[in-house]
Amino acid sequence: MSDQYDTITQAGPGTPMGELMRQYWIPAALSEELTPDGTPVRILLLNEKMIAFRDTAGRVGMMDHRCPHRCASLFYGRNEEGGLRCVYHGWKYDVEGNCLDMANIPERQHFTDKVHTKAYLTKEHNGVVWVYMGDPARAPKDLPQFECLLGPASAVKMRFIQRRCNWLQAIEGDLDTSHVGLLHFGFVKPTQDLDPGRKDLTVNRAPEYRLQETKFGLTYGAYRPSPTVPGGTYWRVAHFLYPFWIMPPVAVLENNVMVRAFIPMDDEHCMFVGFESTAFMRENDRERTSRQGDGGYLRDNLLPNESGWYGRYRMVECEENDYLISRDEQKTKSFTGIEGIHTQDQCVTESMGGIIDRSFENLAPSDIAIARNRRMLLKAVEAFQNGVRPPACDDPSAYALARGGSFTTTTEGDWLGLHKEAVASVREKSSVPA
Ligand code: FES
Ligand SMILES: [Fe+2]
Repeated sequence: MSDQYDTITQAGPGTPMGELMRQYWIPAALSEELTPDGTPVRILLLNEKMIAFRDTAGRVGMMDHRCPHRCASLFYGRNEEGGLRCVYHGWKYDVEGNCLDMANIPERQHFTDKVHTKAYLTKEHNGVVWVYMGDPARAPKDLPQFECLLGPASAVKMRFIQRRCNWLQAIEGDLDTSHVGLLHFGFVKPTQDLDPGRKDLTVNRAPEYRLQETKFGLTYGAYRPSPTVPGGTYWRVAHFLYPFWIMPPVAVLENNVMVRAFIPMDDEHCMFVGFESTAFMRENDRERTSRQGDGGYLRDNLLPNESGWYGRYRMVECEENDYLISRDEQKTKSFTGIEGIHTQDQCVTESMGGIIDRSFENLAPSDIAIARNRRMLLKAVEAFQNGVRPPACDDPSAYALARGGSFTTTTEGDWLGLHKEAVASVREKSSVPA
């Protein structure tokens, strides 16, 4: 099995999963990281070392960091007059990777038309730079049409946070809903006077599951009897969306207009990219959400960015400081003694090591979505190797109606149908501001 796990955890060029991921647009940086003729930025993505820069005209380039002359890093390059000039011998490249100049060679000997550096397609949308690392001829025209990105840009909150573990390990943390009642809310006593959301999670901490593969990935629902609605069932529905996106039920359906990704930097580091929109919420919920803030992951707990390959969007809390755990609070106030939901997730997934030795695991019925997702990815990789296009890669609109979240129903019926009805009903009640 370990070969199979290598297949779905490794994302470098030429690896099966890495090639599959290269069929999709990938968020790589915030637009504000790149200023015209400003400092180039090191970007480590799918095990490729790249340099991002914005040229004089404002266009974004994302290219191999090695100069195609003799491989000096273009990170040290001069970003000037419409291109990036290598400081070693002065060769210069535009955002498309065309060589514009060979400053150390007499002009009659130039062969700029023969030299091309690997530069990827980029797009900017709502303050984010996206990159397409596959065959340009196959690039989808549109970015993925997630619901949270379809509303007004001003309502979208976004965040990049580096996580020091394999991308799949991080995704599996979000595919595992039963930890929420323990890791995050294990200290909450169900007898306390609680709001319904907390009660739903803590009276019964052992849900059961339903799973369904979809045109964009995998949907699963965890269910248990509702402690707040007589005869009701409390559902938590999550989606995995190819190739590395997830919509976990971090809130009730009405307020869960979000998506997040764990994108491989290399095989032992990934970047959390979170988007969340308040535009589709009802007015009251919008106000409440902005008062409550960010659900724990938009806290200002990042170190200033540095220029190294691993220097962007690092959390203050990390293995070296034990995630600022308080053993005292662990006894008196919280299950972990670690503050913040994102930090708690970061701690447990990073604590497994860079890549889990999955032969050491003992999966349980609560891990059914994780196991199914692994099998599904393996199948998709194999199909892709046999010429089948991966799910949703040629149809970014396939994501548009997906929404995760929690809801309670007293109706009997097919769980997917119930979820669909619940989503339709909250959509009907919400209004999208112009
Ligand atoms: S290595 Fe870049 S110009 Fe020579
Ligand atoms: Fe969590």
